[in-house]
Amino acid sequence: MRLNSPKMNIIYNACLKASKSLIRDFGEIEKLQVSSKGPGDFVTAADKKSEKIIIEELLKAHPDFGILSEEAGVINKKNDQQRWIIDPIDGTLNFLNGIPHFAISVGYEENNEIICGIIFDPIKNEIFFAEKGSGAFFNNSRIRVSKKNKIKNSLLVTGGPKFDSEQKKDIFEEYFKISKMVDAPIRKFGSASLDIAYVSSGRFDGFWQWDLNYWDIAAGLVILREAGGFVDFMPGKVKTSSKKNIIATNSNIHQELQAALMKKNIE
Ligand code: IPD
Ligand code: CA
Ligand code: CA
Repeated sequence: MRLNSPKMNIIYNACLKASKSLIRDFGEIEKLQVSSKGPGDFVTAADKKSEKIIIEELLKAHPDFGILSEEAGVINKKNDQQRWIIDPIDGTLNFLNGIPHFAISVGYEENNEIICGIIFDPIKNEIFFAEKGSGAFFNNSRIRVSKKNKIKNSLLVTGGPKFDSEQKKDIFEEYFKISKMVDAPIRKFGSASLDIAYVSSGRFDGFWQWDLNYWDIAAGLVILREAGGFVDFMPGKVKTSSKKNIIATNSNIHQELQAALMKKNIE
């Protein structure tokens, strides 16, 4: 793999180590699914184990860097100008159900900008990575977003829960309306980081989701931009100020998708 910088090497080694632990734990899920207790506690432990491995590796390389990680929260709070942003398992519900679609996502942020990142799918052994100014890669190949320029020929992906309890709305009904409005099919795969990685590599043409956390998207931001895509944050509907409403596309269909989503927001 063409990992150009020391930072990328550090992230890659941390992900590789954690991926081995996740692959082993994922192999246990099937057995636990048929047990009366189910795999819930086991998955929580797997998540924390993966996170611990990643954090240990990153701190070994740079003991003074800040960290924002989903389970562990903030580490080295004082250093918020050089920090790692970690999601140790993105796609937990898939993992829990034995569905091989989840990833480790690690980004490196400097002065509030993501500089490099990796989205590492351990089961499919698919690694998406990028560093600002050096292009985006999938395993050993350079990737680019798709060239489609009409939303009606596109394949879109989104995420989120089925039901928005605050707004008392069936979210699938909304997806259906949007799908009709843009005349394009919509998928829901359950891992926001992989959704963005797939837009970056042209598998999907556009992605959006409300209320995402920074660790879901951090690595994806640089990968998509380096692959020629466009990321935008939408106003409104965010539950807390740290959450993000994101639209991430191949850039050609951006305006059309944004217009459709805005229309939905206004209604
Ligand atoms: C979730 C996934 C999912 C998205 C959710 C996230 P998790 O992350 O990325 O695709 O729709 O909003 O919370 O909980 O599996 O790390
Ligand atoms: Ca996540
Ligand atoms: Ca997670």
